[in-house]
Amino acid sequence: MEGFKWEYAPAPEAKDHAKLKTQYDLFINGKFVKPNSKKYFDTHSPSTLEKLAEVAEANAKDVDSAVTAAKLAYDKVWKKMPAKERSKYIFRIARVMQERARELAVIESMDGGKPIRESRDFDVPTAANHFFYYAGWADKLDYAFPNKKPKSLGVAAQIIPWNFPLLMAAWKIAPALATGNTVVLKPAESTPLTALKLAEIIQDCDLPPGVVNIINGFGNTGAAMVAHPHVNKIAFTGSTDVGKIIQKAIAGTNKKITLELGGKAANIVFDDAPIDQAVEGIVNGIFFNQGHVCCAGSRLFVQENVAEVVIRKLKERMETLIVGDPLDKNTDIGAINSKEQLDKINSYLEIGRAEGLELFQTSGSIPSKGYYCKPTLFIGAAQSNRVVQEEIFGPVLTIQTFRTIEEVIEKANNIPYGLSAGVWTDKGSKIFNLTSKLRAGVIWANTYNKFDPTSPFGGYKESGFGREGGLHGLAPYLTF
Ligand code: NAI
Ligand code: MG
Repeated sequence: MEGFKWEYAPAPEAKDHAKLKTQYDLFINGKFVKPNSKKYFDTHSPSTLEKLAEVAEANAKDVDSAVTAAKLAYDKVWKKMPAKERSKYIFRIARVMQERARELAVIESMDGGKPIRESRDFDVPTAANHFFYYAGWADKLDYAFPNKKPKSLGVAAQIIPWNFPLLMAAWKIAPALATGNTVVLKPAESTPLTALKLAEIIQDCDLPPGVVNIINGFGNTGAAMVAHPHVNKIAFTGSTDVGKIIQKAIAGTNKKITLELGGKAANIVFDDAPIDQAVEGIVNGIFFNQGHVCCAGSRLFVQENVAEVVIRKLKERMETLIVGDPLDKNTDIGAINSKEQLDKINSYLEIGRAEGLELFQTSGSIPSKGYYCKPTLFIGAAQSNRVVQEEIFGPVLTIQTFRTIEEVIEKANNIPYGLSAGVWTDKGSKIFNLTSKLRAGVIWANTYNKFDPTSPFGGYKESGFGREGGLHGLAPYLTF
């Protein structure tokens, strides 16, 4: 089987049904409006490098217009609306997202580089499911928090990253609306398009103007949102560095905050694990979405006596992965989201080499145009290596071995992050032992990267705080 690879004819997803305007304005108070800044910036496809559209950049004045619209909508309409009426709007957004699922998936893959199979089968349906799920909670908050009299907060400023653009928008907007808050959301600068399509959907759903505002821009725009005095709640997903800046910026205010930051998850394989299943889980854990996943299983720990067979099978499986056109239905690994991110990943490949680690990359080719990275292993890694300690956010897996359960717990936890972890074993007792001792917000057992709107998600330590998803995801948008 070694080196065996299926040859597939190209199977590109059609993109003629994806309707993109050449220029997008700011979505404020239910309308697309020209930016006070008068500035627009380009968004590109990271695979073809073509310009897809230009997008208005919000300055501090534009941020003020958006927050003011959100505050008025909160005071005059949304706060007063019966919860079951609010729920209908959220439900309607979910249904229209489903109707336009194909277009959303294609645009997500064009703008961000992820394989169409993922945006079609994971990102878009999971995003719609979050709206469905939270629509159901809107009129049941008194049951969710009995005897606590939950009340909404006001205006939520939500800042999201580029790895799951539409899904992160749904994670943020759906619980905010269900709890009776209004929203100003800023997508990441390299992936603004699906959130703008969501703005069109929100318009079509006749949501009262100002309840959801979507503006674009860079770090300055995000900083202006955080600083605005009428913002009551901040929800941020992104880098730990920016998370720390935001926390400093709001010190001394009574703004509520949730931060979902970086990760460096341990994926732990014991010698009694079903090896083939574990290999699938390792591949899914780190190569899913090009490794642009905060909870990616980026540190593999494999028990010493099965290390050889696991690594051999892992290499064989990696050889079958197809790296290429995000819009091709056979593609397993799409394009790296941006030149900056590719440069960062490549710099870590150099760091790992300089640290003396054995590097394995698959033998297949990658497209000559666009930002791509081959799936990569660093074998024989040690706890002190930078490639083990720091978040790479790409398709790069470090491999360490261990002998005892105490040793692997110690190593898995000895890291600044604590977002997620995985464990592969036949024994329930080992699973329970690990879930109580690993300092990670989410732990998967004999599976990896499974998401569901009903499950809370969030981190420990430098991975942030607060939970999103499930019943837990309502609380950060409420006061009791
Ligand atoms: P970033 O943290 O700079 O960007 C995330 C969002 O924050 C974007 O919308 C950005 O415009 C905004 N932002 C930037 N500076 C801000 C500020 N001062 N105030 C408010 N908002 C601000 O992340 P970046 O630079 O795109 O990626 C750098 C690294 O961060 C990645 O290589 C990866 O390691 C990590 N990252 C982690 C993510 C996660 O899901 N936890 C998502 C994206 C990046
Ligand atoms: Mg883009």
